[in-house]
Amino acid sequence: MRFVAKTLYGLEKVLSEELISLGAANVQTANRAVLFEGDMSLLYRVNYCARTALSVLMPIDDFRIRSKDDLYKGGSKIEWDRFMDPDDTFSIVPVINSPHFGHTGYAGLILKDAIADSFRNKTGRRPSVDTTNPRILINLHISNDLVTISIDSSVVPLFKRGYRQEQSMAPLNEVLAAGIILLSGWKVSATLTDPMCGSGTIPIEAGLIACKIPPGKFRQFFGFQRWKDFNEDLFEKIKLECNSQIGLSPVKIFGSDISEQTIQYAKANVARAGLSDAISLEMSDFKNLRSIDDRGYVFLNPPYGQRIQPEEIDLLYSMIGTTLKHNFTGTTAWLITSNKESLKHVGLKPKEKHILFNGALECVLLKYEMYQGTKKQEKS
Ligand SMILES: C[S@@+](CC[C@H](N)C(=O)[O-])C[C@H]1O[C@@H](n2cnc3c(N)ncnc32)[C@H](O)[C@@H]1O
Repeated sequence: MRFVAKTLYGLEKVLSEELISLGAANVQTANRAVLFEGDMSLLYRVNYCARTALSVLMPIDDFRIRSKDDLYKGGSKIEWDRFMDPDDTFSIVPVINSPHFGHTGYAGLILKDAIADSFRNKTGRRPSVDTTNPRILINLHISNDLVTISIDSSVVPLFKRGYRQEQSMAPLNEVLAAGIILLSGWKVSATLTDPMCGSGTIPIEAGLIACKIPPGKFRQFFGFQRWKDFNEDLFEKIKLECNSQIGLSPVKIFGSDISEQTIQYAKANVARAGLSDAISLEMSDFKNLRSIDDRGYVFLNPPYGQRIQPEEIDLLYSMIGTTLKHNFTGTTAWLITSNKESLKHVGLKPKEKHILFNGALECVLLKYEMYQGTKKQEKS
């Protein structure tokens, strides 16, 4: 069976490595997606275990169109009763980039009619549309004249892990946080510090990785559980097998933040993820922190500056550079931000640069090796 795992821009390679380690075959990266092959048990496993997938689609048909009518004809030929009954509800997510459709919603309406009519012709009844809680979520992708129709096996996006119920302003997407950590090459033997941890997303994702806790463990629901052919015994077996890998790790993870309220949120989220023993949290201004491991990793996701005066945000970024240089010598620091102007005030020369997206926001992720003399110029 062919599947498509969707991800955030910039994490395609990390996701393809994850998929290979989960047993996927014929893995190919695409734009914000990775194509792979496997069986139903792999589909369940990827939903439960992949840290950098946003959702997993199962393509059920693809065909070319020369007009709008061809979408209706192609959609009517699919044996929809393999996937749903007239009593079920469904919803369609259209992703359209085609000269045949100026309006994305219109393509979705055509496919909806094709599904409804094919059921009505066979049974006299038709499934109804429910956009808030559908039993089956259909993904309609049209690129020029190529239509691909898939069923979304996740439905609720996989970044919604379930542990983050309290969040500070501008939290990182959980998939992005996991992706940054996997991309960084961090090994659990090295101390990990997030000195602007907000709701704790980076420390928690690192803790899940270190303790081999599947990211799906806290979720109540995956879309495939509502499929007609859902094999509950198989899913229970996969969960048991994956959960049996969970172990205590000697990992040292520290999170801190200048806001006491935010630290309280982070503590509640860490407790929900079952990681209170692995992650220490405290209130602190970053400028007062010192590294406790000169081979440690520091992950920084500073404010982007939307709610702060430009001079203040520049001073904050300058303080980050100075603190890294003086208090975190020897460490490897990774910083992600969308504020490219303020970034110049860090004053450190990056070793690596990656473009990533936090939701719709374009960000840059920079790696700094904090050996002596890295800072280009000292700010007074
Ligand atoms: C973009 S948010 C971090 C979001 C976090 N990664 C999450 O997923 O929730 C930036 C955080 O930096 C904190 N912060 C701002 N200035 C700080 C400073 N001088 N020292 C420590 N934390 C600071 C803010 O309180 C805020 O929680």
